[in-house]
Amino acid sequence: MKPTTIIDCDPGHDDVMAILLGGRTTDLRGITTVHGNASLAQTTRNARQVVEFAGLTHVPIAEGMPQPLVRVAQHAPYVHGESGLDGPTLAPPTVPLHPSHAVDFLLEQSTSLSELVLLPIGPLTNIAIALKRDPGFASRVKQISLMGGSLTFGNVTPAAEFNLWCDPEAAHVVFTSGIPIKMIGLNVTHQVLATEPYRKRVRAIGSTTATHVADMLDFYSARETAYTGLAGGSMHDPLAVAALIDPTILTFEPMHVAVEIHGRDTAGMTLCDGRHLGPDFRALKPRTRGEAPNAEVAVAVDAGRFWELFLDVLATYP
Ligand code: RIB
Ligand code: CA
Repeated sequence: MKPTTIIDCDPGHDDVMAILLGGRTTDLRGITTVHGNASLAQTTRNARQVVEFAGLTHVPIAEGMPQPLVRVAQHAPYVHGESGLDGPTLAPPTVPLHPSHAVDFLLEQSTSLSELVLLPIGPLTNIAIALKRDPGFASRVKQISLMGGSLTFGNVTPAAEFNLWCDPEAAHVVFTSGIPIKMIGLNVTHQVLATEPYRKRVRAIGSTTATHVADMLDFYSARETAYTGLAGGSMHDPLAVAALIDPTILTFEPMHVAVEIHGRDTAGMTLCDGRHLGPDFRALKPRTRGEAPNAEVAVAVDAGRFWELFLDVLATYP
Protein backbone atom coordinates (compact mmCIF):
# COMPACT_ATOMS: atom_id res chain seq x y z
CA MET A 1 0.00 0.00 0.00
CA LYS A 2 1.51 3.32 -1.06
CA PRO A 3 1.78 5.93 1.73
CA THR A 4 -0.50 8.96 1.31
CA THR A 5 1.81 11.95 1.13
CA ILE A 6 2.15 15.69 0.70
CA ILE A 7 5.59 17.03 -0.29
CA ASP A 8 6.45 20.44 1.21
CA CYS A 9 9.36 21.77 -0.80
CA ASP A 10 11.58 24.56 -2.12
CA PRO A 11 12.57 23.36 -5.62
CA GLY A 12 15.55 23.17 -5.78
CA HIS A 13 17.26 20.51 -7.90
CA ASP A 14 17.11 17.76 -5.31
CA ASP A 15 13.52 18.68 -4.47
CA VAL A 16 12.68 17.81 -8.10
CA MET A 17 14.18 14.35 -7.60
CA ALA A 18 11.98 13.91 -4.53
CA ILE A 19 8.84 14.95 -6.44
CA LEU A 20 9.63 12.48 -9.23
CA LEU A 21 10.33 9.65 -6.78
CA GLY A 22 7.29 10.46 -4.66
CA GLY A 23 5.06 10.91 -7.69
CA ARG A 24 5.41 7.22 -8.52
CA THR A 25 6.13 5.49 -5.20
CA THR A 26 3.60 7.30 -2.99
CA ASP A 27 -0.04 8.38 -3.28
CA LEU A 28 1.07 12.00 -3.75
CA ARG A 29 -1.95 14.13 -2.84
CA GLY A 30 -0.29 17.52 -3.01
CA ILE A 31 2.80 19.68 -3.28
CA THR A 32 3.15 22.74 -1.04
CA THR A 33 5.85 25.30 -1.74
CA VAL A 34 7.92 27.38 0.64
CA HIS A 35 10.79 29.92 0.58
CA GLY A 36 14.25 28.37 0.69
CA ASN A 37 16.59 27.54 -2.17
CA ALA A 38 15.06 30.51 -3.99
CA SER A 39 12.22 32.99 -3.42
CA LEU A 40 8.73 31.59 -2.94
CA ALA A 41 7.74 32.90 -6.38
CA GLN A 42 10.61 30.93 -7.91
CA THR A 43 10.16 27.72 -5.92
CA THR A 44 6.46 27.75 -6.83
CA ARG A 45 7.22 28.41 -10.52
CA ASN A 46 9.76 25.58 -10.47
CA ALA A 47 7.28 23.15 -8.89
CA ARG A 48 4.71 23.98 -11.60
CA GLN A 49 7.29 23.38 -14.35
CA VAL A 50 8.21 19.99 -12.90
CA VAL A 51 4.67 18.61 -12.67
CA GLU A 52 4.10 19.73 -16.27
CA PHE A 53 7.11 18.07 -17.91
CA ALA A 54 6.73 14.97 -15.74
CA GLY A 55 3.02 14.54 -16.38
CA LEU A 56 2.07 15.00 -12.72
CA THR A 57 -0.41 17.83 -13.31
CA HIS A 58 -3.07 15.89 -11.35
CA VAL A 59 -1.10 16.71 -8.19
CA PRO A 60 -2.33 20.05 -6.79
CA ILE A 61 0.27 22.70 -5.94
CA ALA A 62 -0.48 25.14 -3.10
CA GLU A 63 1.81 28.11 -2.48
CA GLY A 64 3.01 28.75 1.08
CA MET A 65 5.11 31.08 3.15
CA PRO A 66 7.56 33.56 1.61
CA GLN A 67 9.43 34.21 4.85
CA PRO A 68 10.58 32.32 7.97
CA LEU A 69 8.67 32.77 11.25
CA VAL A 70 11.12 35.25 12.71
CA ARG A 71 14.24 35.61 10.56
CA VAL A 72 14.86 37.12 7.13
CA ALA A 73 14.53 34.77 4.15
CA GLN A 74 17.83 33.32 2.92
CA HIS A 75 18.36 31.62 -0.43
CA ALA A 76 21.00 29.40 -2.06
CA PRO A 77 21.75 30.72 -5.59
CA TYR A 78 25.35 29.56 -5.08
CA VAL A 79 24.04 25.99 -5.36
CA HIS A 80 20.74 26.16 -7.27
CA GLY A 81 21.25 29.28 -9.42
CA GLU A 82 19.16 32.46 -9.42
CA SER A 83 16.02 30.64 -10.61
CA GLY A 84 16.46 27.91 -8.02
CA LEU A 85 16.48 25.40 -10.89
CA ASP A 86 19.22 26.55 -13.27
CA GLY A 87 20.54 24.09 -15.87
CA PRO A 88 17.67 22.77 -18.00
CA THR A 89 15.60 24.83 -20.43
CA LEU A 90 12.01 24.39 -19.25
CA ALA A 91 8.78 25.69 -20.78
CA PRO A 92 7.05 28.49 -18.84
CA PRO A 93 4.48 26.91 -16.50
CA THR A 94 0.77 27.00 -17.33
CA VAL A 95 -0.72 24.69 -14.70
CA PRO A 96 -2.81 26.73 -12.24
CA LEU A 97 -2.14 26.76 -8.51
CA HIS A 98 -4.56 25.26 -6.03
CA PRO A 99 -6.72 28.13 -4.67
CA SER A 100 -5.82 27.41 -1.03
CA HIS A 101 -2.74 28.77 0.73
CA ALA A 102 -0.36 25.91 1.55
CA VAL A 103 -1.13 26.12 5.27
CA ASP A 104 -4.88 25.91 4.62
CA PHE A 105 -4.25 23.08 2.13
CA LEU A 106 -2.26 21.11 4.72
CA LEU A 107 -5.00 21.60 7.32
CA GLU A 108 -7.79 20.78 4.84
CA GLN A 109 -6.08 17.63 3.58
CA SER A 110 -5.29 16.44 7.11
CA THR A 111 -9.01 16.38 7.91
CA SER A 112 -9.97 14.40 4.80
CA LEU A 113 -6.98 12.07 4.44
CA SER A 114 -6.36 9.33 6.96
CA GLU A 115 -2.80 8.12 7.42
CA LEU A 116 -1.31 11.34 5.99
CA VAL A 117 2.51 11.37 5.82
CA LEU A 118 4.26 14.72 5.36
CA LEU A 119 7.48 15.00 3.36
CA PRO A 120 9.03 18.38 4.28
CA ILE A 121 12.21 18.90 2.23
CA GLY A 122 12.70 22.65 2.66
CA PRO A 123 12.46 25.10 5.56
CA LEU A 124 9.68 24.02 7.94
CA THR A 125 7.74 27.31 8.00
CA ASN A 126 4.51 25.98 6.42
CA ILE A 127 4.37 22.97 8.73
CA ALA A 128 5.04 25.07 11.83
CA ILE A 129 2.30 27.56 11.00
CA ALA A 130 -0.17 24.73 10.37
CA LEU A 131 0.68 23.36 13.82
CA LYS A 132 0.21 26.78 15.40
CA ARG A 133 -3.02 27.49 13.49
CA ASP A 134 -4.60 24.17 14.54
CA PRO A 135 -3.05 22.19 17.44
CA GLY A 136 -5.19 19.25 16.34
CA PHE A 137 -3.15 19.03 13.13
CA ALA A 138 -0.42 17.06 14.92
CA SER A 139 -2.86 14.28 15.81
CA ARG A 140 -4.04 14.02 12.19
CA VAL A 141 -0.55 13.50 10.75
CA LYS A 142 0.67 9.90 10.85
CA GLN A 143 4.36 10.64 10.32
CA ILE A 144 6.89 13.17 9.05
CA SER A 145 9.84 12.07 6.92
CA LEU A 146 11.99 15.17 6.53
CA MET A 147 15.26 16.08 4.92
CA GLY A 148 17.04 18.34 7.37
CA GLY A 149 19.55 18.65 10.16
CA SER A 150 22.61 16.52 10.67
CA LEU A 151 24.00 14.02 13.14
CA THR A 152 27.44 15.48 12.45
CA PHE A 153 28.25 18.73 10.68
CA GLY A 154 26.12 21.36 8.97
CA ASN A 155 26.54 22.79 5.49
CA VAL A 156 25.67 26.48 5.79
CA THR A 157 27.52 26.70 9.11
CA PRO A 158 29.64 24.11 10.92
CA ALA A 159 26.54 23.38 13.03
CA ALA A 160 23.47 23.93 10.87
CA GLU A 161 21.97 22.38 7.74
CA PHE A 162 20.27 24.79 5.28
CA ASN A 163 16.59 23.85 5.79
CA LEU A 164 16.76 24.22 9.56
CA TRP A 165 19.22 27.15 9.40
CA CYS A 166 16.67 29.10 7.33
CA ASP A 167 13.97 28.78 10.00
CA PRO A 168 15.19 27.32 13.32
CA GLU A 169 12.06 28.46 15.17
CA ALA A 170 9.83 26.56 12.74
CA ALA A 171 12.00 23.47 13.12
CA HIS A 172 11.70 23.73 16.91
CA VAL A 173 7.90 23.77 16.58
CA VAL A 174 7.98 20.65 14.39
CA PHE A 175 10.43 18.67 16.54
CA THR A 176 8.37 19.42 19.68
CA SER A 177 5.01 18.62 18.02
CA GLY A 178 4.90 14.96 19.06
CA ILE A 179 4.46 13.81 15.46
CA PRO A 180 6.62 10.72 14.72
CA ILE A 181 9.60 12.04 12.77
CA LYS A 182 12.17 10.39 10.54
CA MET A 183 15.09 12.80 10.24
CA ILE A 184 17.27 12.30 7.16
CA GLY A 185 20.27 14.58 7.67
CA LEU A 186 23.49 15.53 5.95
CA ASN A 187 25.43 12.74 7.65
CA VAL A 188 23.70 10.30 5.29
CA THR A 189 22.65 12.50 2.34
CA HIS A 190 26.25 13.53 1.66
CA GLN A 191 26.96 9.83 1.00
CA VAL A 192 24.48 9.66 -1.92
CA LEU A 193 26.01 11.65 -4.77
CA ALA A 194 25.11 12.23 -8.42
CA THR A 195 28.57 11.20 -9.58
CA GLU A 196 29.36 11.17 -13.30
CA PRO A 197 28.56 7.45 -13.80
CA TYR A 198 25.10 7.91 -12.33
CA ARG A 199 24.53 11.12 -14.31
CA LYS A 200 25.43 9.19 -17.49
CA ARG A 201 22.90 6.47 -16.57
CA VAL A 202 20.24 9.14 -16.07
CA ARG A 203 20.94 10.75 -19.45
CA ALA A 204 21.01 7.34 -21.17
CA ILE A 205 17.32 6.85 -20.31
CA GLY A 206 16.73 9.34 -23.09
CA SER A 207 13.21 10.58 -22.22
CA THR A 208 12.30 14.25 -21.94
CA THR A 209 12.08 13.97 -18.16
CA ALA A 210 15.39 12.11 -17.89
CA THR A 211 17.10 14.67 -20.13
CA HIS A 212 15.83 17.52 -17.95
CA VAL A 213 16.98 15.63 -14.85
CA ALA A 214 20.41 15.03 -16.40
CA ASP A 215 20.74 18.73 -17.19
CA MET A 216 19.69 19.54 -13.61
CA LEU A 217 22.17 17.07 -12.12
CA ASP A 218 25.02 18.35 -14.28
CA PHE A 219 24.42 21.94 -13.12
CA TYR A 220 23.71 20.97 -9.49
CA SER A 221 26.72 18.67 -9.28
CA ALA A 222 29.10 21.32 -10.58
CA ARG A 223 27.81 23.80 -8.00
CA GLU A 224 27.72 21.32 -5.10
CA THR A 225 31.21 20.05 -5.90
CA ALA A 226 32.53 23.62 -5.92
CA TYR A 227 30.69 24.33 -2.65
CA THR A 228 31.41 21.11 -0.74
CA GLY A 229 34.20 19.31 -2.61
CA LEU A 230 31.97 16.23 -2.89
CA ALA A 231 32.10 14.20 -6.12
CA GLY A 232 28.57 15.17 -7.22
CA GLY A 233 25.30 16.73 -6.15
CA SER A 234 23.92 15.25 -2.93
CA MET A 235 20.58 13.52 -3.34
CA HIS A 236 19.32 15.09 -0.11
CA ASP A 237 15.57 15.33 -0.66
CA PRO A 238 14.66 12.10 -2.48
CA LEU A 239 16.14 10.20 0.46
CA ALA A 240 13.27 11.46 2.62
CA VAL A 241 10.94 9.72 0.14
CA ALA A 242 13.11 6.60 -0.07
CA ALA A 243 12.88 6.29 3.73
CA LEU A 244 9.16 5.58 3.31
CA ILE A 245 9.50 3.18 0.39
CA ASP A 246 12.41 0.82 1.02
CA PRO A 247 13.51 0.17 4.62
CA THR A 248 16.79 -1.37 3.40
CA ILE A 249 18.09 1.98 2.12
CA LEU A 250 18.38 3.88 5.41
CA THR A 251 19.14 2.76 8.96
CA PHE A 252 17.66 4.77 11.84
CA GLU A 253 18.31 5.11 15.57
CA PRO A 254 15.81 6.73 17.95
CA MET A 255 17.21 9.85 19.63
CA HIS A 256 16.14 13.07 21.25
CA VAL A 257 16.76 15.94 18.84
CA ALA A 258 16.77 19.55 20.04
CA VAL A 259 16.87 22.40 17.54
CA GLU A 260 19.07 25.29 18.65
CA ILE A 261 17.30 28.63 18.23
CA HIS A 262 19.43 30.94 20.39
CA GLY A 263 23.05 30.22 19.51
CA ARG A 264 25.01 32.93 17.77
CA ASP A 265 27.15 30.24 16.06
CA THR A 266 24.79 27.27 16.36
CA ALA A 267 21.32 28.51 15.38
CA GLY A 268 19.54 25.76 13.41
CA MET A 269 21.74 22.98 14.77
CA THR A 270 20.07 19.61 15.45
CA LEU A 271 21.54 18.55 18.78
CA CYS A 272 21.09 14.76 18.60
CA ASP A 273 21.48 12.87 21.90
CA GLY A 274 23.45 9.85 20.73
CA ARG A 275 25.29 9.23 23.99
CA HIS A 276 24.13 5.57 23.87
CA LEU A 277 25.62 5.04 20.42
CA GLY A 278 28.98 3.58 19.48
CA PRO A 279 31.45 4.93 16.90
CA ASP A 280 29.33 3.36 14.14
CA PHE A 281 26.27 5.27 15.44
CA ARG A 282 24.66 1.97 16.45
CA ALA A 283 23.25 1.59 19.98
CA LEU A 284 25.83 0.11 22.39
CA LYS A 285 23.20 -0.29 25.10
CA PRO A 286 19.62 0.85 25.79
CA ARG A 287 19.37 4.63 26.18
CA THR A 288 19.20 5.65 29.87
CA ARG A 289 20.26 9.29 29.87
CA GLY A 290 18.62 12.46 28.61
CA GLU A 291 15.17 13.18 27.24
CA ALA A 292 13.02 10.55 25.56
CA PRO A 293 13.54 10.22 21.79
CA ASN A 294 11.39 12.48 19.59
CA ALA A 295 12.80 11.31 16.28
CA GLU A 296 14.33 8.44 14.39
CA VAL A 297 17.63 9.76 13.04
CA ALA A 298 19.20 8.24 9.91
CA VAL A 299 22.66 6.88 10.77
CA ALA A 300 23.54 4.85 7.66
CA VAL A 301 22.56 4.61 3.98
CA ASP A 302 22.90 2.16 1.06
CA ALA A 303 23.63 4.62 -1.75
CA GLY A 304 23.69 1.95 -4.47
CA ARG A 305 20.27 0.65 -3.48
CA PHE A 306 18.90 4.21 -3.56
CA TRP A 307 20.23 4.82 -7.06
CA GLU A 308 18.74 1.59 -8.41
CA LEU A 309 15.34 2.63 -7.01
CA PHE A 310 15.64 6.18 -8.37
CA LEU A 311 16.78 5.13 -11.86
CA ASP A 312 14.02 2.52 -12.13
CA VAL A 313 11.39 5.11 -11.20
CA LEU A 314 12.86 7.82 -13.44
CA ALA A 315 12.61 5.48 -16.43
CA THR A 316 8.80 5.41 -16.03
CA TYR A 317 8.41 9.11 -16.80
CA PRO A 318 7.71 10.52 -20.29
O1 RIB B 1 20.72 21.22 3.05
C1 RIB B 1 20.10 20.58 1.96
C2 RIB B 1 18.67 21.00 1.84
O2 RIB B 1 18.63 22.40 1.59
C3 RIB B 1 17.94 20.36 0.65
O3 RIB B 1 16.58 20.23 0.96
C4 RIB B 1 18.13 21.35 -0.45
O4 RIB B 1 17.08 21.28 -1.43
C5 RIB B 1 18.03 22.64 0.31
O5 RIB B 1 16.64 22.94 0.49
CA1 CA C 1 14.89 21.23 -0.56
